[in-house]
Amino acid sequence: EKGGYKHFMAKEIAEQPVVLADASRHYLSEDGLNLPEDLDFSKISRLTLVACGTAFYACSVAKYWFEQLARIPVEIDVASEFRYREPPLPEDSYAIFVSQSGETADTLAALRYCHEKVAKTVAVVNVPTSSIARECDVALPILAGVEVGVASTKAFTCQLLVLATLALKAARDRGHMSEAELARHMDALQSLPALMNHALALDDTLNEVSNELSEARDVLFLGRGAMYPLALEGALKLKEISYIHAEGYASGELKHGPIALIDSHTPVIVFAPHDALFDKTVSNMQEVMARGGKVLLVSDKKGLDVASDGVWQTVQMPEVPDLFAPLLYAIPAQLIAYHTAVAKGTDVDQPRNLAKSVTVE
Ligand code: M6R
Repeated sequence: EKGGYKHFMAKEIAEQPVVLADASRHYLSEDGLNLPEDLDFSKISRLTLVACGTAFYACSVAKYWFEQLARIPVEIDVASEFRYREPPLPEDSYAIFVSQSGETADTLAALRYCHEKVAKTVAVVNVPTSSIARECDVALPILAGVEVGVASTKAFTCQLLVLATLALKAARDRGHMSEAELARHMDALQSLPALMNHALALDDTLNEVSNELSEARDVLFLGRGAMYPLALEGALKLKEISYIHAEGYASGELKHGPIALIDSHTPVIVFAPHDALFDKTVSNMQEVMARGGKVLLVSDKKGLDVASDGVWQTVQMPEVPDLFAPLLYAIPAQLIAYHTAVAKGTDVDQPRNLAKSVTVE
C-alpha cells in the first residue's frame, strides 16, 4: 500500500503532481473557475481564515493572495487562540476553515463560534464526510486522496490550490482582475504539476544535503512574503519528524533577535525565488554568512547566478510564476524534512507524541 516507497510520507510527497492536477481539473475548467455560485466575495468586508498546524500555514500563504489579488482584508489565526479570543466578526464577512481531517477539535470549535455571526462559513477539507465539512455552509474538497503520514504534505499543496482559486474568484468578484489576467493565473496554476515533477527530481541533491543537516542541533528557515509562511512550514515539518529544533522566521526579522543564534553549526535554509523581494532576502542571507552561518539557498537559476557566492549549498529549482511559488517550494521543504528524518532513523510516518488527527484540544 506504500506503492514501493519506504514510507507513506515519501509516497505522498511524490503523489503531489498527480493529485494537484486532479484538483486543478476540478477547480479550473475551460469556462473558468469551478466554485459554487453563491460564494460571492463582492460585498464581503473581511475574510477570517482559521486552522491549526500545517493547515494554518496554508491560510498564512493565502492571506498574501487574498490581499494582493482581491484587495480584501484578511485575518488569520490558529484555532486554539481564535476560539477563546471571542473576536468580533462583521456580519458581512466570510470565515474559512482549513483542515485535512476535518475533525480537529479546535478548528471545529472555532467554526461553531462563527455560525450565525458571519455571512458564510466555508470548509476547505480533505475528508468530505468530516464534521467540519458537514457543519460549514460550503464545503470545498481539496481532493488530495487519503493522507496517512502524520506529517501533512500533499494536503498542504492541495489546500493551497483551493485557496488560490478562491483568491482568484474573490479578485474577479471585486473587479480587481480582468479575464486575461485570470486566464494567465489559471495557466500558472495549471503549470504547477509539471514543475513539481522537476522539483521532485532534486531528490538526490536534497538527500545529500539532508545527511549533513541531520547532524545539526538547530536549523533556521528564512523567507519573505509568501515564502515566510513556507519557512514556518519547513521548520514545523523538520521538527515534527526529525526532532531537530527548527524555527522559521521572516527574513527581515532576523536582525531583531534571531541573528544572535547564528554560528557555524546552525544551518540556515533560505527559500528565495528570484522575485521582487529577492534582493532583500539575499541581503539578510549575507548578514547570516558574514557571521559564519552555513546557508542552504533554495532558488532558481536567475537567483543562484547572482547570489551563490559563499553559500554552503544551493538547490536549483525550476522557474515558477512568482505568486504560486509556495506550492513548488513546499517540495524541497518536505524532502529536506523527510531525508533528514530518515538519516536520523526516526519513525517518519508515526513520529513520537503526535496523532494524525487531533480530536481533543
Ligand atoms: O487535520 P488538520 O489539517 O486539521 O490538522 C491540523 C494539524 O494538526 C496538522 O496540520 C499538523 O500540524 C501536521 N502534523 C503537520 O504536518
